[in-house]
Amino acid sequence: MVHSPVKTVRMPAGDRVPALGQGTWGMGENPALRGQEIASLRAGLDLGLRVVDTAEMYGEGRTESLVGEAIAGRRDEVFLISKVYPQNASLKAMQTACTNSLRRLKTDRIDLYLLHWAGSVPMEETLNAFARLQSDGHVRSWGVSNLDTAAMNELWALPGGGGVQTNQVLYNLTRRGVEWDLLPWLREHGVPLMAYSPIEQGRLTRHRALVDFARNHGMTPAQVALAWLLAKDDVIVIPKTASAARLAENLDALAHPLDAAAQAQLDRLFPPPHGAVPLEML
Ligand SMILES: NC(=O)c1ccc[n+]([C@@H]2O[C@H](COP(=O)([O-])OP(=O)(O)OC[C@H]3O[C@@H](n4cnc5c(N)ncnc54)[C@H](OP(=O)(O)O)[C@@H]3O)[C@@H](O)[C@H]2O)c1
Repeated sequence: MVHSPVKTVRMPAGDRVPALGQGTWGMGENPALRGQEIASLRAGLDLGLRVVDTAEMYGEGRTESLVGEAIAGRRDEVFLISKVYPQNASLKAMQTACTNSLRRLKTDRIDLYLLHWAGSVPMEETLNAFARLQSDGHVRSWGVSNLDTAAMNELWALPGGGGVQTNQVLYNLTRRGVEWDLLPWLREHGVPLMAYSPIEQGRLTRHRALVDFARNHGMTPAQVALAWLLAKDDVIVIPKTASAARLAENLDALAHPLDAAAQAQLDRLFPPPHGAVPLEML
Protein backbone atom coordinates (compact mmCIF):
# COMPACT_ATOMS: atom_id res chain seq x y z
CA MET A 1 0.00 0.00 0.00
CA VAL A 2 1.51 3.34 -1.10
CA HIS A 3 0.32 6.53 0.48
CA SER A 4 0.89 9.51 -1.77
CA PRO A 5 0.79 12.97 -0.21
CA VAL A 6 -2.80 14.14 -0.19
CA LYS A 7 -3.29 16.77 -2.93
CA THR A 8 -4.81 20.02 -1.77
CA VAL A 9 -7.47 22.45 -2.92
CA ARG A 10 -7.27 26.17 -2.21
CA MET A 11 -10.41 27.62 -0.66
CA PRO A 12 -11.35 31.15 -1.81
CA ALA A 13 -10.50 32.58 1.65
CA GLY A 14 -7.00 31.14 1.38
CA ASP A 15 -7.13 27.89 3.37
CA ARG A 16 -5.42 24.99 1.62
CA VAL A 17 -7.27 21.79 2.44
CA PRO A 18 -6.66 18.16 1.43
CA ALA A 19 -8.84 17.14 -1.53
CA LEU A 20 -9.72 13.91 0.28
CA GLY A 21 -11.54 14.26 3.59
CA GLN A 22 -13.77 12.26 5.89
CA GLY A 23 -17.57 12.14 6.00
CA THR A 24 -19.40 11.22 9.20
CA TRP A 25 -23.04 10.66 8.28
CA GLY A 26 -24.37 7.72 10.32
CA MET A 27 -21.55 7.78 12.86
CA GLY A 28 -22.47 7.97 16.53
CA GLU A 29 -25.80 6.23 16.01
CA ASN A 30 -24.78 2.74 17.11
CA PRO A 31 -23.00 2.54 20.50
CA ALA A 32 -21.42 -0.77 19.49
CA LEU A 33 -19.56 0.96 16.64
CA ARG A 34 -18.47 4.04 18.59
CA GLY A 35 -14.91 2.94 19.33
CA GLN A 36 -14.34 1.82 15.76
CA GLU A 37 -15.73 5.07 14.34
CA ILE A 38 -13.53 7.21 16.57
CA ALA A 39 -10.49 5.10 15.73
CA SER A 40 -11.22 5.42 12.02
CA LEU A 41 -11.53 9.23 12.21
CA ARG A 42 -8.27 9.42 14.16
CA ALA A 43 -6.52 7.09 11.73
CA GLY A 44 -7.70 9.44 8.98
CA LEU A 45 -6.08 12.39 10.75
CA ASP A 46 -2.87 10.38 11.12
CA LEU A 47 -2.90 9.85 7.34
CA GLY A 48 -3.49 13.52 6.53
CA LEU A 49 -7.24 13.46 5.93
CA ARG A 50 -7.76 16.66 7.89
CA VAL A 51 -11.14 17.68 6.47
CA VAL A 52 -13.89 16.28 8.70
CA ASP A 53 -17.46 16.88 7.57
CA THR A 54 -20.40 16.65 9.95
CA ALA A 55 -23.78 18.34 10.60
CA GLU A 56 -26.11 19.14 13.45
CA MET A 57 -28.67 16.94 11.64
CA TYR A 58 -26.57 13.76 11.80
CA GLY A 59 -27.96 11.67 14.62
CA GLU A 60 -29.58 14.89 15.90
CA GLY A 61 -26.25 15.93 17.40
CA ARG A 62 -24.88 12.50 18.28
CA THR A 63 -22.51 12.54 15.31
CA GLU A 64 -21.08 15.93 16.28
CA SER A 65 -20.52 14.61 19.81
CA LEU A 66 -18.62 11.63 18.43
CA VAL A 67 -16.54 13.91 16.20
CA GLY A 68 -15.78 16.08 19.25
CA GLU A 69 -14.48 13.02 21.04
CA ALA A 70 -12.45 11.87 18.02
CA ILE A 71 -10.70 15.23 17.52
CA ALA A 72 -10.16 15.98 21.23
CA GLY A 73 -6.57 17.13 21.72
CA ARG A 74 -6.06 17.37 17.95
CA ARG A 75 -8.31 20.29 17.08
CA ASP A 76 -5.60 22.26 15.30
CA GLU A 77 -5.01 19.40 12.83
CA VAL A 78 -8.60 19.44 11.64
CA PHE A 79 -10.42 21.53 9.05
CA LEU A 80 -13.79 21.12 10.73
CA ILE A 81 -17.00 21.45 8.74
CA SER A 82 -20.49 21.41 10.20
CA LYS A 83 -23.88 22.31 8.78
CA VAL A 84 -26.84 24.22 10.07
CA TYR A 85 -30.42 23.08 9.43
CA PRO A 86 -32.29 25.46 7.08
CA GLN A 87 -34.88 26.09 9.79
CA ASN A 88 -32.02 27.28 12.04
CA ALA A 89 -30.56 29.61 9.42
CA SER A 90 -32.11 32.82 10.85
CA LEU A 91 -30.13 35.43 12.79
CA LYS A 92 -31.37 34.25 16.18
CA ALA A 93 -31.67 30.49 15.62
CA MET A 94 -28.26 30.15 13.97
CA GLN A 95 -26.60 31.65 17.01
CA THR A 96 -28.16 28.96 19.21
CA ALA A 97 -27.57 26.15 16.71
CA CYS A 98 -23.90 27.08 16.37
CA THR A 99 -23.43 27.32 20.14
CA ASN A 100 -24.90 23.83 20.48
CA SER A 101 -22.69 22.46 17.69
CA LEU A 102 -19.58 23.99 19.28
CA ARG A 103 -20.49 22.45 22.64
CA ARG A 104 -20.95 18.99 21.10
CA LEU A 105 -17.79 19.34 19.02
CA LYS A 106 -15.92 20.50 22.14
CA THR A 107 -14.31 23.39 20.32
CA ASP A 108 -14.55 27.17 20.12
CA ARG A 109 -14.69 27.42 16.32
CA ILE A 110 -15.94 25.73 13.18
CA ASP A 111 -13.69 26.19 10.15
CA LEU A 112 -16.45 26.01 7.57
CA TYR A 113 -20.13 26.29 8.47
CA LEU A 114 -22.55 25.29 5.72
CA LEU A 115 -26.23 25.95 5.15
CA HIS A 116 -27.33 22.29 4.78
CA TRP A 117 -29.94 23.07 2.12
CA ALA A 118 -32.07 26.07 1.17
CA GLY A 119 -35.15 26.60 3.31
CA SER A 120 -37.62 29.39 3.96
CA VAL A 121 -35.32 31.81 5.82
CA PRO A 122 -34.34 34.58 3.37
CA MET A 123 -30.74 34.14 2.23
CA GLU A 124 -29.94 37.77 3.17
CA GLU A 125 -30.72 36.94 6.80
CA THR A 126 -28.66 33.73 6.66
CA LEU A 127 -25.70 35.72 5.32
CA ASN A 128 -26.06 38.20 8.19
CA ALA A 129 -26.17 35.30 10.64
CA PHE A 130 -22.98 33.80 9.17
CA ALA A 131 -21.32 37.25 9.29
CA ARG A 132 -22.17 37.68 12.96
CA LEU A 133 -20.76 34.25 13.84
CA GLN A 134 -17.62 35.11 11.89
CA SER A 135 -17.12 38.42 13.68
CA ASP A 136 -17.65 36.64 17.02
CA GLY A 137 -14.93 34.15 16.03
CA HIS A 138 -17.20 31.10 16.25
CA VAL A 139 -17.04 30.38 12.52
CA ARG A 140 -14.00 30.97 10.30
CA SER A 141 -15.79 30.72 6.96
CA TRP A 142 -19.15 29.75 5.52
CA GLY A 143 -20.61 27.93 2.55
CA VAL A 144 -23.67 26.17 1.25
CA SER A 145 -24.89 22.71 0.36
CA ASN A 146 -27.45 21.38 -2.12
CA LEU A 147 -27.87 24.71 -3.94
CA ASP A 148 -28.50 24.53 -7.69
CA THR A 149 -27.14 26.96 -10.25
CA ALA A 150 -30.12 29.32 -10.03
CA ALA A 151 -29.77 29.49 -6.24
CA MET A 152 -26.02 30.09 -6.55
CA ASN A 153 -26.69 32.99 -8.91
CA GLU A 154 -29.14 34.50 -6.43
CA LEU A 155 -26.68 34.02 -3.58
CA TRP A 156 -23.83 35.57 -5.55
CA ALA A 157 -25.91 38.68 -6.28
CA LEU A 158 -26.48 39.39 -2.56
CA PRO A 159 -24.18 41.67 -0.53
CA GLY A 160 -21.54 39.34 0.94
CA GLY A 161 -22.71 36.41 -1.22
CA GLY A 162 -19.30 36.22 -2.87
CA GLY A 163 -17.87 35.00 0.44
CA VAL A 164 -19.19 31.49 -0.19
CA GLN A 165 -16.38 28.94 0.19
CA THR A 166 -17.96 25.83 -1.30
CA ASN A 167 -21.17 24.18 -2.45
CA GLN A 168 -21.36 20.63 -1.08
CA VAL A 169 -23.44 18.54 -3.48
CA LEU A 170 -24.11 14.97 -4.54
CA TYR A 171 -21.52 14.08 -7.16
CA ASN A 172 -20.23 10.69 -8.22
CA LEU A 173 -19.93 8.53 -11.35
CA THR A 174 -23.67 7.80 -11.34
CA ARG A 175 -24.68 11.40 -10.47
CA ARG A 176 -23.01 13.59 -13.05
CA GLY A 177 -25.80 16.13 -13.58
CA VAL A 178 -23.76 18.89 -11.89
CA GLU A 179 -21.33 18.80 -14.82
CA TRP A 180 -23.91 20.45 -17.09
CA ASP A 181 -24.12 23.83 -15.39
CA LEU A 182 -23.32 23.85 -11.65
CA LEU A 183 -19.69 22.70 -11.85
CA PRO A 184 -18.92 25.13 -14.71
CA TRP A 185 -20.61 27.92 -12.70
CA LEU A 186 -18.54 27.12 -9.61
CA ARG A 187 -15.35 27.03 -11.69
CA GLU A 188 -16.14 30.35 -13.31
CA HIS A 189 -16.64 31.90 -9.86
CA GLY A 190 -13.61 30.23 -8.23
CA VAL A 191 -15.68 28.22 -5.75
CA PRO A 192 -14.57 24.60 -5.12
CA LEU A 193 -17.20 21.86 -5.24
CA MET A 194 -17.37 19.42 -2.34
CA ALA A 195 -18.58 16.01 -3.52
CA TYR A 196 -20.74 14.09 -1.06
CA SER A 197 -21.69 10.41 -1.30
CA PRO A 198 -18.73 9.92 -3.67
CA ILE A 199 -19.21 6.14 -3.69
CA GLU A 200 -23.01 6.46 -3.77
CA GLN A 201 -23.27 5.40 -0.10
CA GLY A 202 -21.39 2.20 -0.91
CA ARG A 203 -23.59 1.17 -3.84
CA LEU A 204 -20.87 1.90 -6.40
CA THR A 205 -18.72 -0.84 -4.87
CA ARG A 206 -21.30 -3.35 -6.18
CA HIS A 207 -21.83 -1.76 -9.60
CA ARG A 208 -21.08 -4.53 -12.11
CA ALA A 209 -19.41 -2.37 -14.77
CA LEU A 210 -17.31 -0.57 -12.18
CA VAL A 211 -16.28 -3.82 -10.52
CA ASP A 212 -15.01 -5.10 -13.90
CA PHE A 213 -13.28 -1.81 -14.74
CA ALA A 214 -11.59 -1.72 -11.34
CA ARG A 215 -10.35 -5.31 -11.64
CA ASN A 216 -8.83 -4.53 -15.05
CA HIS A 217 -7.03 -1.52 -13.59
CA GLY A 218 -5.72 -3.19 -10.42
CA MET A 219 -7.96 -1.05 -8.23
CA THR A 220 -11.04 -1.51 -6.10
CA PRO A 221 -14.37 0.01 -7.21
CA ALA A 222 -14.25 2.53 -4.35
CA GLN A 223 -10.76 3.60 -5.44
CA VAL A 224 -11.93 4.16 -9.02
CA ALA A 225 -14.94 6.18 -7.84
CA LEU A 226 -12.68 8.36 -5.67
CA ALA A 227 -9.81 8.64 -8.17
CA TRP A 228 -12.28 9.81 -10.83
CA LEU A 229 -13.36 12.71 -8.58
CA LEU A 230 -9.84 13.41 -7.33
CA ALA A 231 -8.66 13.88 -10.92
CA LYS A 232 -10.54 17.21 -10.89
CA ASP A 233 -8.48 20.09 -9.52
CA ASP A 234 -11.20 21.96 -7.67
CA VAL A 235 -13.22 19.10 -6.14
CA ILE A 236 -12.98 18.03 -2.50
CA VAL A 237 -14.16 14.49 -1.83
CA ILE A 238 -15.52 13.35 1.53
CA PRO A 239 -16.16 9.59 1.64
CA LYS A 240 -17.37 8.14 4.93
CA THR A 241 -15.97 4.97 6.39
CA ALA A 242 -15.92 3.60 9.91
CA SER A 243 -13.24 1.08 8.98
CA ALA A 244 -9.51 1.79 9.21
CA ALA A 245 -8.91 -0.78 6.45
CA ARG A 246 -11.38 0.85 4.06
CA LEU A 247 -9.94 4.24 4.99
CA ALA A 248 -6.50 3.10 3.86
CA GLU A 249 -8.04 1.59 0.72
CA ASN A 250 -9.77 4.88 -0.06
CA LEU A 251 -6.61 6.90 0.56
CA ASP A 252 -4.79 4.65 -1.87
CA ALA A 253 -7.02 6.04 -4.62
CA LEU A 254 -4.46 8.86 -4.72
CA ALA A 255 -1.77 6.38 -5.71
CA HIS A 256 -3.81 5.36 -8.78
CA PRO A 257 -4.45 8.47 -10.87
CA LEU A 258 -6.66 7.71 -13.88
CA ASP A 259 -5.09 8.51 -17.25
CA ALA A 260 -7.02 10.03 -20.16
CA ALA A 261 -7.80 6.62 -21.66
CA ALA A 262 -9.19 5.31 -18.37
CA GLN A 263 -11.29 8.46 -17.96
CA ALA A 264 -12.64 8.11 -21.50
CA GLN A 265 -13.60 4.52 -20.77
CA LEU A 266 -15.42 5.66 -17.61
CA ASP A 267 -17.24 8.31 -19.69
CA ARG A 268 -18.57 5.49 -21.86
CA LEU A 269 -19.68 3.45 -18.82
CA PHE A 270 -21.07 6.46 -16.92
CA PRO A 271 -21.98 9.07 -19.55
CA PRO A 272 -21.88 12.76 -18.70
CA PRO A 273 -25.20 14.67 -18.93
CA HIS A 274 -26.53 15.74 -22.34
CA GLY A 275 -28.69 18.52 -20.92
CA ALA A 276 -29.72 20.25 -17.70
CA VAL A 277 -30.57 17.88 -14.86
CA PRO A 278 -32.32 19.03 -11.65
CA LEU A 279 -29.86 18.89 -8.75
CA GLU A 280 -30.17 15.55 -6.97
CA MET A 281 -29.96 15.18 -3.19
CA LEU A 282 -29.60 12.25 -0.82
N1 LIG B 1 -24.65 17.90 2.42
C1 LIG B 1 -25.44 16.86 2.32
O1 LIG B 1 -26.66 16.97 2.12
C2 LIG B 1 -24.85 15.48 2.47
C3 LIG B 1 -25.60 14.36 2.07
C4 LIG B 1 -25.00 13.11 2.20
C5 LIG B 1 -23.70 13.00 2.69
N2 LIG B 1 -23.01 14.11 3.09
C6 LIG B 1 -21.63 14.00 3.64
O2 LIG B 1 -20.84 13.26 2.73
C7 LIG B 1 -20.27 12.13 3.39
C8 LIG B 1 -20.10 10.97 2.43
O3 LIG B 1 -21.33 10.56 1.87
P1 LIG B 1 -22.11 9.24 2.35
O4 LIG B 1 -21.72 8.86 3.72
O5 LIG B 1 -23.55 9.52 2.07
O6 LIG B 1 -21.69 8.14 1.29
P2 LIG B 1 -20.30 7.54 0.73
O7 LIG B 1 -19.15 8.19 1.36
O8 LIG B 1 -20.42 7.55 -0.76
O9 LIG B 1 -20.41 6.02 1.19
C9 LIG B 1 -20.34 5.64 2.54
C10 LIG B 1 -20.68 4.16 2.61
O10 LIG B 1 -19.76 3.40 1.83
C11 LIG B 1 -19.05 2.47 2.67
N3 LIG B 1 -17.65 2.48 2.23
C12 LIG B 1 -16.73 3.46 2.39
N4 LIG B 1 -15.56 3.12 1.82
C13 LIG B 1 -15.75 1.89 1.30
C14 LIG B 1 -14.90 0.99 0.59
N5 LIG B 1 -13.63 1.29 0.30
N6 LIG B 1 -15.42 -0.21 0.20
C15 LIG B 1 -16.70 -0.53 0.49
N7 LIG B 1 -17.54 0.26 1.16
C16 LIG B 1 -17.08 1.48 1.56
C17 LIG B 1 -19.24 2.93 4.08
O11 LIG B 1 -19.32 1.84 4.96
P3 LIG B 1 -18.28 1.67 6.20
O12 LIG B 1 -18.42 2.89 7.04
O13 LIG B 1 -18.75 0.43 6.86
O14 LIG B 1 -16.92 1.54 5.57
C18 LIG B 1 -20.60 3.62 4.02
O15 LIG B 1 -21.64 2.67 4.16
C19 LIG B 1 -21.29 11.87 4.51
O16 LIG B 1 -20.78 10.98 5.48
C20 LIG B 1 -21.56 13.27 4.98
O17 LIG B 1 -20.50 13.74 5.79
C21 LIG B 1 -23.56 15.35 2.95
